[in-house]
Amino acid sequence: MATISVLSFFGIVFGSLAAYLLFHRVNVAIRRHRLARSRGCGKPKRVPQKDPFLGFDLFRAFEDAASNSKYLEFIANWFSTVGPTFGLNVMGDDMIFTNEPRNIQAMLATQFQDFEMDGKDWEHGRALVRPNFVKKQVSNLSIFEKHVSNLIRQLPADQSKVDIQDWLFRLTLDTGSEYLFGKSASILNSDATETAKTFAWGFEVGMHTIAKKIRMGRFGWLYREPNYEKACEICHKYIEPMVQQAVAEARSREYSEKSGLIDAEKGGIENSEERYTFLRTLAKEYKTVTETDMRNQLLNILVAARDTSACLMASTLFVLAHRHGIQAKVRSELAFLNNRPPTWEELKDLTYLNNVIREVLRLHPPVPINVRVAKRDTTLPCGGGPDGTATVFVEKGKSIVYSVYSMHRRPDLWGSKAEEFTPERWIGAKPGFEFLPFNAGPRICPGKFHMKPFIVGI
Ligand code: HEM
Repeated sequence: MATISVLSFFGIVFGSLAAYLLFHRVNVAIRRHRLARSRGCGKPKRVPQKDPFLGFDLFRAFEDAASNSKYLEFIANWFSTVGPTFGLNVMGDDMIFTNEPRNIQAMLATQFQDFEMDGKDWEHGRALVRPNFVKKQVSNLSIFEKHVSNLIRQLPADQSKVDIQDWLFRLTLDTGSEYLFGKSASILNSDATETAKTFAWGFEVGMHTIAKKIRMGRFGWLYREPNYEKACEICHKYIEPMVQQAVAEARSREYSEKSGLIDAEKGGIENSEERYTFLRTLAKEYKTVTETDMRNQLLNILVAARDTSACLMASTLFVLAHRHGIQAKVRSELAFLNNRPPTWEELKDLTYLNNVIREVLRLHPPVPINVRVAKRDTTLPCGGGPDGTATVFVEKGKSIVYSVYSMHRRPDLWGSKAEEFTPERWIGAKPGFEFLPFNAGPRICPGKFHMKPFIVGI
């Protein structure tokens, strides 16, 4: 008897739970249906799939394309065959893909709150690093000149072939570390220390693992890189003593100011002869920001800066090496410098070179594809219905992948010669959301102007 009543007790509990969940789901579905109808939503087109439930076919195809370095073209092909906005299932994750400026503008700016990524964590991090992105940081081009000269010295002089992208990654790691921590990793040097080499290895493993996890979407946790934890630890250990030293200096500077040993007005970091670095300004916040948080922020900026800047330089060099006419024009614009590096002010006036760089950012954007996840039920302005003009309903939790790479090559936005490299198209051009190498809205790249000195390298 007792067994039966226990069973019926659990039966009632589970039955009620199942009924509640069903009721809740039906309720949510009805609410979503009403919202979609009231906003005139239509369904986006779909990519034809052999496995529409789990999307294994596409996941395999994605991975094959990625390993053949054809990931971007693979996705671009769907945009040209299916349309600017479409749905597809990757590993059971039903996503929306778009290269439509209006949809991207909604996610990044006008409806930012609906697609905010890490909420308070991001706000806190951004508030912390924002004051560091000042012109003073970069207008002194000597760091860049020093490392670029070093790169040129290290390259083989016997006309043998090198993978320049690999060297540029080392260049941006050396420049980035000096610029952020005040001490370069000096990995470009042939006699780089073992500690610096291990840091470079750790950073590489970390970047590779994160990229792979992002590509796997919600199944990213399934990817295991045996060296990942060790790599992260190495990166933190590498900058730990620098953070500790900067905090100690900030404490003693504050003590000296309070006790009148130095004049706070005249003797602050801003006025001192010591070079201004991200770490020094971050360290001033030592009372409210932990050292772990400082390390996280510094590594976060290095991640954001290293590959993007190196890719921009590599693509620009690739273009210049293949287009001798454009290279000749760049050289003639730079002729007045007589082989000396330009100043910050002169950089702005290099109109042709700036247009070449804009064109590289258009055709080879260093962040070519990106994703946002809906934080609540919402809509995108277009892409729904048979002709793609209706709004699209986006339920909470849905991922929207946006391809800047494909958007930058749309003939309806950039003309029939959209795929051609034409720096002249930038004369007098004022593009809106159809040109987004640095994103837009609250999460716009704060280092947008900080990559300018790399032009010195080019
Ligand atoms: C050609 C060079 C660069 C390109 C194309 C680029 C592009 C971007 C893009 C598209 C984002 C937005 C990512 C997202 O929200 O999903 C971003 C974010 C960011 N970038 Fe850059 N970036 C470049 C160079 C730099 C440099 C040199 C720095 C630092 C000195 C930097 C620091 C950052 C930071 C800190 C973020 C995160 C912003 C946030 O989440 O609020 N970037 N960048």
